[in-house]
Amino acid sequence: MDYTFRIKRYDPDVDVKPYFKEYVVDLEPNDRVLDGLNRIKWDQDGTLTYRRSCAHGVCGSDAMRINGRNYLACKTLMKEFGKKITIEPLIGFKVIKDMVVDMDPFFDGYKSVKPYLIASDPPAGEERRQTPEQVARYEDATKCILCAACTTSCPITWTNESFVGPAAIVNAARFIYDSRDEGALDRLRILNTQSGVWRCRTVFNCTDACPRHIKITEAIEDVKRALLFNRF
Ligand code: FES
Repeated sequence: MDYTFRIKRYDPDVDVKPYFKEYVVDLEPNDRVLDGLNRIKWDQDGTLTYRRSCAHGVCGSDAMRINGRNYLACKTLMKEFGKKITIEPLIGFKVIKDMVVDMDPFFDGYKSVKPYLIASDPPAGEERRQTPEQVARYEDATKCILCAACTTSCPITWTNESFVGPAAIVNAARFIYDSRDEGALDRLRILNTQSGVWRCRTVFNCTDACPRHIKITEAIEDVKRALLFNRF
């Protein structure tokens, strides 16, 4: 079956401004959007540029806008769309080429919340043991693959470059609610600033966009409650 890909192309080295180019690809309805992009790149136009690696929804490298919404191209089937689909880069970041955007601001926000275990004392035994209930408190947040689909679907990030964004807050929550961690107060202090959690307007775009179905808005609200009631 022929599908038409309408792809936003832009190479800042040669193009004055972005433009759309169409490609027709023979695919099955159960093929993924990434399969279509690969067919275009391998068979029709080697200049088409996009990130991909695992092709199985693990590495988080191929998040992009498909028909106006963020998805992972490798986890999205052609049959979810019509016979014509529009592909664009994530918005809010500088385009390096075609679907490849500059992810540095995203990772700067992520790193700013100290997304690692802070524990001063060595474990009492061979490992730091937790009950299933303690793990359940933060487990949802561990599913994040840092694809930026949530952060770049958030309208606040489109207009406020300093906002750390949903992914950073989720990764802060992942450690704030970890019983082994001692850095919660520090992370909450970081998120209690103008760039932090109060910028969130509870739009839910982030939750809708997450390919791992993380309850992102819930995690953000948890962090807000921790700041308001000093309870975590
Ligand atoms: S290519 Fe790794 S998540 Fe899609």
